[in-house]
Amino acid sequence: MFKAELYRKRRAQLRKDIGSGLILLLGNVEASFNYPANTYHFRQDSSFLYFFGLDLPGLAGVLDADTGEDWIFGNDVDMDDIIWMGVLPTIKELAQKVDVTKTAPYASLDGALADALAKNRVVHFLPPYRGETSLELERLLKIPASGLKSAASLPLIKAIVKQRSVKDQYEIAEIEKAIDAAYLMHTTAMKMAQPGTWEQKIAGTIEGIALANGGPVSFPIILSMNGQTLHNHDHSQILEKGRLMVVDAGCETGLHYASDLTRTTPVGGTFTDRQKPVYEAVLAANMKAIEAIRPGVTYREVHLLSARVLASALKEIGLMKGDIDAAVEAGAHALFFPHGLGHMMGLDVHDMENLGQIYVGYDDETRPSKQFGLASLRMGRRLEPGFVITVEPGCYFIPALIDQWKAEGLHRDFINYDEVVKYKDFGGIRIEDDVLVTDTGYRVLGRPVPKTVKDVEEMVRKG
Ligand code: GLY
Ligand code: MN
Repeated sequence: MFKAELYRKRRAQLRKDIGSGLILLLGNVEASFNYPANTYHFRQDSSFLYFFGLDLPGLAGVLDADTGEDWIFGNDVDMDDIIWMGVLPTIKELAQKVDVTKTAPYASLDGALADALAKNRVVHFLPPYRGETSLELERLLKIPASGLKSAASLPLIKAIVKQRSVKDQYEIAEIEKAIDAAYLMHTTAMKMAQPGTWEQKIAGTIEGIALANGGPVSFPIILSMNGQTLHNHDHSQILEKGRLMVVDAGCETGLHYASDLTRTTPVGGTFTDRQKPVYEAVLAANMKAIEAIRPGVTYREVHLLSARVLASALKEIGLMKGDIDAAVEAGAHALFFPHGLGHMMGLDVHDMENLGQIYVGYDDETRPSKQFGLASLRMGRRLEPGFVITVEPGCYFIPALIDQWKAEGLHRDFINYDEVVKYKDFGGIRIEDDVLVTDTGYRVLGRPVPKTVKDVEEMVRKG
């Protein structure tokens, strides 16, 4: 937990931004895995963590923007809890750790909200993303679960996005801790990338590294020789010499700050002559994008720059042709790079995605695109100091997509289909780093994981 004062300041800012009414932040409850008492690993709601810091189930936070009072509703453990789970601090003691003086049993939340609603006070709440939270909000606010998303408070969403988007020094230090653990995950995966190794063995080993460093993985590990499938969670194959292994993985710290890194490794430690130029193309797209990061630039521009760098390298290889600016403008590069350059990262690996991507990654000035590829860009808006973003260009050869575009004759002026079809067995490449926007430019966070051809090959050969 950070210092109590930090949570108090965050809540004061939120109350100020909202102006009046109540702000209800429900913490998460335990979620069952296969029977009620066997639960998933508990994960607190990130906005609750940000403002109230307490990492326990069954709590609710209420901020009164009119009186300036902050409340924590929750129940002290009873004898049964003590017998099974041990002694825990009281709610009052927990609340003191985050500078909250008002506490009440959870059951009194009903009355507090009913009273506010009876007085026509506005109760601001966030859109739920878990069934349990939907049912609880339905019960507390008398709004049908199906209507909660549209009834959620836009001012609250915007105020929270405004605060959580800009990371302070303590948050950045946590993120760097998560990246340093991810360094161990990725370098271990590289060393294990030897012919004959089961993908699942590598995935399981690096998930263990995440856990041994304090937190779970920040999202299910993506690890496969079939890296052309963007989010490939099937780890069933045995590694073969001459193939590439994509590993997209990160972890959370004990305070739940995330890392998210991707590396692509040649099985056995040597890139083939066909793989090397495509790898260098993605690496150039990654590095040029990072170098372009600074306050004031839109991330949409950085995405398009990385697309142009990739497309011009693919032209050199003979896979694309024609005018590269026109090709990227038309979206032809998306055959190879069908996703966005990156997203915000913080307490969530896709930070605040539950609040609505449109509010996190876009604003009145920068609107999302409908063009294939660019439409998947989660973060398009102007960068500001304190933002932490991922930079993750990729190049994939997706047989079904190649067949479809070729059959439809899409972007024939820019794509050399006769060559591209020869790459249908290639797989995919993605290279991802986590970057802080500074006052003057950028800083790549954490311990650098090898990414040049030479450094990656050397790391595999250490295995
Ligand atoms: N690392 C997975 C993703 O960003 O979607
Ligand atoms: Mn990512």
